[in-house]
Amino acid sequence: MSSVSLSTAELMQHRAAMESMLDDIAPVGGFSHTAVSHGASLEVPSNDVVILLTGTTGFLGSAALQDFINCPSVKRVYALNRSSRSGRSLSERQLGAPANTPFDPTSQAGKKAVLVEADITAEGFSMDPGLLEEIRENVTHIVHNAWRVHLALPVNAFSDVLRGMRTLIDFAITAPRCNRFVFVSSISTCQNIPTDIIAPETAVPIDFAIGRMGYGESKWIGEAMLLRAASETGLKAVIARTGQIAGSEAGPWKPGSWVSLVIKTSIAIGSLPTMNDHCNWVTLETAAGALVDLTLVPVEGTAEVVHVIHPRPIPLDSLFEMCGNFLGLPLISLSSWLDRMQLAPQRQIDAYPAHKVISMLKVFAAVGTRGYFPEMMVERGPALSKTMREAEELKLAIVRGWLQYWIKTRWIQSKPRPQL
Ligand SMILES: NC(=O)c1ccc[n+]([C@@H]2O[C@H](COP(=O)([O-])OP(=O)(O)OC[C@H]3O[C@@H](n4cnc5c(N)ncnc54)[C@H](OP(=O)(O)O)[C@@H]3O)[C@@H](O)[C@H]2O)c1
Repeated sequence: MSSVSLSTAELMQHRAAMESMLDDIAPVGGFSHTAVSHGASLEVPSNDVVILLTGTTGFLGSAALQDFINCPSVKRVYALNRSSRSGRSLSERQLGAPANTPFDPTSQAGKKAVLVEADITAEGFSMDPGLLEEIRENVTHIVHNAWRVHLALPVNAFSDVLRGMRTLIDFAITAPRCNRFVFVSSISTCQNIPTDIIAPETAVPIDFAIGRMGYGESKWIGEAMLLRAASETGLKAVIARTGQIAGSEAGPWKPGSWVSLVIKTSIAIGSLPTMNDHCNWVTLETAAGALVDLTLVPVEGTAEVVHVIHPRPIPLDSLFEMCGNFLGLPLISLSSWLDRMQLAPQRQIDAYPAHKVISMLKVFAAVGTRGYFPEMMVERGPALSKTMREAEELKLAIVRGWLQYWIKTRWIQSKPRPQL
């Protein structure tokens, strides 16, 4: 996640763009006039929790929706999503969402979910005004998970999701029972942190966030906006600064992450790369469970920043060794692996999809033992979340499940070694 290739001039340009977006969308002092009373002490009876969760058609959101509706204290979950451009209904999309347990609207728990199509960037969220008022009157916790998850776009491509977040915060501070706004952020807000600093579980300076990923920059703006709202209105804010979410412990991990691209390319190359770093990925179950815990657990003060990463990381090389053992592939140095990959023509992108993340891999190779991923403090998560405290260490059984899933879904084609 290091930004070694940004020049000083580029860093300054990025900083100016981020500051101007933040001040344009959420200027200092801009929240207070809309606020109703939001004492951090606002209590919600434990059996009367009403959640508004955004982005439930996605990977984390669909798993979190299942966990929320299975929670005895949760009475209702408004699952708020944008409309589909292809015209598919929301219930159809929710039924096909990648949660570890499929959504069943007819089950006792499933009946707690109310699927809502809305555009949070539009006035009145472009939804039925009666339903909007029902949500405003009843909601106790807002969990903002929906985001454009695209790592190659510049920060200005995120202005619509940031404007949507602003509108949702305005909604939260006018909702009389709303006790908390939880924002699913990302460790890429620390993409440019100096290597001798461990990222704290607090707001981080803008310089830590400036880098190649407009995505991480946008998440920093989202964090800053929410913290501004919290200090101006007393709205309780929880920032779940999340690390890499790996596949489910039951196997499914939709291909698309850089890891899946590297594994597939390794099969074509005949070897896996050594990657000298730590691996603090959380499984889908841990990420979703932590999000639910951080939403429902009592917290002190107005704002909490929590790193949702594995409290007991393993070396990334151990993970690739587990993959190598299963797939029967040796490990070679990342630089040799990159050399071999670059011999493959770019047009063979199907066999060598790591071409899509080549710039990230080159930076990874260039930083060497300094490490690519930021060092992150991990204290608040285990303190506040039982799921994080009890998260299982990443082990062969889990990694094997992902590889078997990718073989079953024909993402990769490889026969596992018979003894495994
Ligand atoms: N996956 C990770 O490793 C990881 C790591 C750190 C943080 N996070 C954060 O976790 C959250 C969920 O990520 P995910 O991996 O579950 O992503 P995902 O599978 O791509 O799901 C994203 C969700 O957000 C919705 N969405 C996307 N763009 C939107 C837009 N412009 N307006 C409204 N809704 C939009 C999607 O709706 P459609 O179904 O309509 O596309 C979907 O419901 C995100 O905030 C992400 O930044 C993820």
